[in-house]
Amino acid sequence: MSNSKTNSILIVDDNNNNIRVLFEILHNSGFQVSVVKSGEMALEKVPSIQPDLILLDVMMPGIDGFETCSRLKANKNTKDIPIIFMTALTELENKIKGLQLGAVDYITKPIHVEEVLARVNVHLSLINTQNNLLEEISERRQAEAKLQQTLTELKQTQTQLIQSEKMSSLGQMVAGIAHEINNPINFIYGNINYVNEYTNNLLTIINIYQRIYPEYHPELAAIAEAIDLEFIVDDLQRLLLSMKIGAERISNIVLSLRNFSRMDEAEFKAVDIHQGIESTLMILQYRLNDKPEHLAIEVIRDYGKLPLVECYAGQLNQVFMNILLNAIDALEANNNQPESQQIKANSQQIKIRTFLDNSQQITIAIADNGLGIPEEVKNRIFDPFFTTKAVGQGTGLGLAISYQIITQKHGGTLECNSTPGEGSEFIIKIPVQQS
Ligand SMILES: Nc1ncnc2c1ncn2[C@@H]1O[C@H](COP(=O)(O)OP(=O)(O)OP(=O)(O)O)[C@@H](O)[C@H]1O
Ligand SMILES: [Mg+2]
Repeated sequence: MSNSKTNSILIVDDNNNNIRVLFEILHNSGFQVSVVKSGEMALEKVPSIQPDLILLDVMMPGIDGFETCSRLKANKNTKDIPIIFMTALTELENKIKGLQLGAVDYITKPIHVEEVLARVNVHLSLINTQNNLLEEISERRQAEAKLQQTLTELKQTQTQLIQSEKMSSLGQMVAGIAHEINNPINFIYGNINYVNEYTNNLLTIINIYQRIYPEYHPELAAIAEAIDLEFIVDDLQRLLLSMKIGAERISNIVLSLRNFSRMDEAEFKAVDIHQGIESTLMILQYRLNDKPEHLAIEVIRDYGKLPLVECYAGQLNQVFMNILLNAIDALEANNNQPESQQIKANSQQIKIRTFLDNSQQITIAIADNGLGIPEEVKNRIFDPFFTTKAVGQGTGLGLAISYQIITQKHGGTLECNSTPGEGSEFIIKIPVQQS
């Protein structure tokens, strides 16, 4: 027996002689022994003493041993304490009855030292082993809980890793593309003015030439007619103008891309939130335009007057991106539902509202009139890896990442309101200044 704690034994007997003999045997063997002299006293004391083992005499005045045993077994605080009956050698019936009532063993009277010690030791050993096992189980449960917690933490770390990976690779790609396009577009955009000027000069020369020599040499006349000189003169300037507009547009896109990635900004910076939303929309433009498989998505802006907001601009743009992408997905999914003809007739909309809550906090609300989110899905949308999209179409990380960015990185809140069949709204609230 490897239990270092001293086992306690309660003797319940009315016979002084028995008590003395038992006490001596047990006490000398190193047990902690207590005594009560009746069933009533036993019932009163056992719950508080909580002995490891009870030696219970059968024949006692008042409540006898059997009744005492039944009542101890009926009480949830005492039912697990092993009871050994003490009965005369000849009373076979009593032995059986005692065992039936839940006693673990019996000792025969008159008492023999070896028998008492042998039986007591066997049962204490059993109960000690049982207690050790219970302890071990509880330790294992604790270890398991700890493991579970570690696993949860690990998952969170994984989410964060994937988040930073996803963000930095997207940011890097966008920044890379912006950088690569920037130089060539500058060649075009910067030179277009010269092309314009030179062309005008050449046209002026032709003009003057025509005035001085109104009669064409036949060879020139043939060429002028073949190339439709009149049309060229007319069209050339329009052509150059549209090239200039196109180049300007590319320049703006490049600016947006650089704005979106904001790779250089690992620090909090005061930025124009609307600019962030606009550059994100610009990047998503291709998904908003109408296509053979879906209608164009109308973006309604209801922008309030906002101060510059201190934030990680690149991360915040990532949040706008995730929420807008989800909204577009929800609208497209809606579009594919045959029963939503009615909604289809209405336009597909994303509505972006911004306003100042008070001098400390702003709200950005992004709503769509898409599918909406079913009740049973709603409380899981922010869970990492939760997705209702087809395999390969969603990682289920968009909102988990967004939630982390808003709540942990910016001390804000991100909530979702949705009515299935009508649409969803995601509401971001962030402090104007980070303290
Ligand atoms: N605007 C919305 N309308 C309807 N359902 C939405 C909307 N936004 C999110 N959801 C639901 O929440 C789920 C989780 O969104 P989340 O952005 O986290 O992951 P995902 O879009 O499935 O995958 P990804 O990691 O590619 O973003 C979605 O699969 C979808 O079921
Ligand atoms: Mg998503």
